[in-house]
Amino acid sequence: MPRGPASATWGDGFLRLRNRLLANPAFQRAAARFLPTRFIARRRARELFDLVAGFVYSQVLLACVQLRLLEALADGPRTVADLAETLALPHEGMQRLLWAAASLRLVERRGDDRFGLGVHGAAMLGNPGIAAMVEHHGLLYADLADPVALLRGRRDRTALGAHWPYAMGGDPRNLSSEQVSAYTTLMAASQPLVAAEILDAYPFHRHRCVLDAGGGDGSFLLSVASRIPTLRLMLIDLPPVADRARVRLRTAGLSERMSVTAGDFLSDAWPDGADLVTLVRVVHDHDDPAVLELFRRAHRALPPGGTLLIAEPMADTPGAEPMGDAYFGFYLLAMGSGRARTPDELGALLDRAGFDVPRLLPTRMPLQTRVLVARRL
Ligand SMILES: C[S@@+](CC[C@H](N)C(=O)[O-])C[C@H]1O[C@@H](n2cnc3c(N)ncnc32)[C@H](O)[C@@H]1O
Repeated sequence: MPRGPASATWGDGFLRLRNRLLANPAFQRAAARFLPTRFIARRRARELFDLVAGFVYSQVLLACVQLRLLEALADGPRTVADLAETLALPHEGMQRLLWAAASLRLVERRGDDRFGLGVHGAAMLGNPGIAAMVEHHGLLYADLADPVALLRGRRDRTALGAHWPYAMGGDPRNLSSEQVSAYTTLMAASQPLVAAEILDAYPFHRHRCVLDAGGGDGSFLLSVASRIPTLRLMLIDLPPVADRARVRLRTAGLSERMSVTAGDFLSDAWPDGADLVTLVRVVHDHDDPAVLELFRRAHRALPPGGTLLIAEPMADTPGAEPMGDAYFGFYLLAMGSGRARTPDELGALLDRAGFDVPRLLPTRMPLQTRVLVARRL
């Protein structure tokens, strides 16, 4: 789907000249020598190197996660020898990993032979959802081994498609509890931070009843319930996922306030009574016809003036552009359906489904979650 003008513009000539200069080795050398442009030249070279080497950084991170290196440093710095023994690595291997991890700020050198947690390592320890994402990236890594084959549509069976089986077509109501288990657990691990962002961005207390469509194991509704004790809670998800949600919400003592519907949200009836419908990390999983159907169903489920809230990472997020178009672009391609959309693209689909112009609410960490709300007309 085109996002900008495809025809030639007046700027093309200027950009052609710029690109010719940037590609010229003599210009590159001059830019690196000349003091005012040296900083820019070095930064660009570093950015380009990171693009070339990024897959290695990811595997260094995976080794840290698989070995539980960050957890081993949680109580304070340790020596290489001590870590090598605890993590069952040869001394040489431990040293090589620690040096690599230090360069990526996952750990920090604290003297000749001691290492402690670095800024990224400490942040990861506080958010176990990131490690869970890193571990499941093994599937995506395998699918991306031949990215061109993926782009040509030559991969109908992908590892990521098996992980998210509802994205691969067929009747999703036939999925077994084993098939939904891994992705449901992964989503639950990363849900608390997402929920905090959404609850801080939007005043849920204005509503009587929320319906969380594609609500997973109920993790988001549990966060909602603890912030707003008066709100009624409804959820619809595939049968084996809905079973997990029912158990979780009941165990949390919410039986009186909740109702869980098991079914396909694209073909089964949605429950009545909500004045707020939430779609949290759901829309980007689906292609446009399914998204339009979801929005139309949300429209039917809501009274006039009711609210639809969409929360997920979005394309064209300022300062985080590669997250939408590169990471989610290829992740969702490997998964089998969906794409990250810009707020405007979502707005166009919402308009077709009978909602007003949506409002983008500020969130603290737009890289992770953006929140769009629209009123049913
Ligand atoms: C990416 S997960 C997000 C889960 C949860 N909202 C969260 O943010 O943690 C997408 C959810 O949509 C559900 N889902 C996908 N297709 C569905 C369908 N056709 N009918 C009902 N639920 C569906 C999945 O089972 C899953 O729980």
